[in-house]
Amino acid sequence: MSALRLGVNIDHVATIRNARGGLHPDPVRAAHMAAAAGADGITAHLREDRRHIADHDIARLSNEIALPLNFEMAATEEMLAIALRHRPHAACIVPERREERTTEGGLDVVGAKDRLRPLVHRLRDAGIRVSMFIEADPRQLDASLEIGAPVVELHTGAYCDHTGDERDRELARIVEAAAHAAAIGLECHAGHGLSYDTVKPIAAIPTIAELNIGHFLVGEAIFVGFEASIRHMRQLMDEARHRP
Ligand code: PXP
Repeated sequence: MSALRLGVNIDHVATIRNARGGLHPDPVRAAHMAAAAGADGITAHLREDRRHIADHDIARLSNEIALPLNFEMAATEEMLAIALRHRPHAACIVPERREERTTEGGLDVVGAKDRLRPLVHRLRDAGIRVSMFIEADPRQLDASLEIGAPVVELHTGAYCDHTGDERDRELARIVEAAAHAAAIGLECHAGHGLSYDTVKPIAAIPTIAELNIGHFLVGEAIFVGFEASIRHMRQLMDEARHRP
């Protein structure tokens, strides 16, 4: 079974910093700690309203962090220009609405193919690995492939939010979508809302190559420290992956 990478999303370190408008806690310091704790990459979402990560964070993450940076971005000209300036390892295209608290649901690639295709191509031409953050729906995977994205990230929010049979149904959709991704030649990632309680069934899906996790790790850091929260998550992922 292939290795499972952990991308640590540091957005909410910046959320806490911004609550007081100063410099502490520093998301770049958190990225260094994530690297020390075994993260394989750093993820940051520069939102249109800059409510957590700011432009200068992206600049510093690009310059100071050795791990691959996964830049989460809305499909806008402003974000495209920033991505092309910094050339992160990867760019994950996410839907964005100002009034939402977090990224609710996946990108509608099927309905926006013509708008998204040129953006994907410009990022690819700059050597950036593009992923589409989508629902676990085969039509969205097919559309992502069609417009030239090499990677999809499956939204695990509904799976995490539900319990019982509904959660099982959401998991089954993710399992099927991850198999479909492999069948059509897309690299498959997953993320959103994952915690110690929900990560294992997702980590056990053999065709998923990367999980991106943020809010829970930052919240848990209050109790056990950031490195410890990441190390424990990593351990749960590895246990699920290498289960006999
Ligand atoms: N993946 C994507 C594409 C996201 O937008 C987010 C949230 O910013 C995450 C993963 C991480 O979600 P969470 O912070 O809930 O772990």
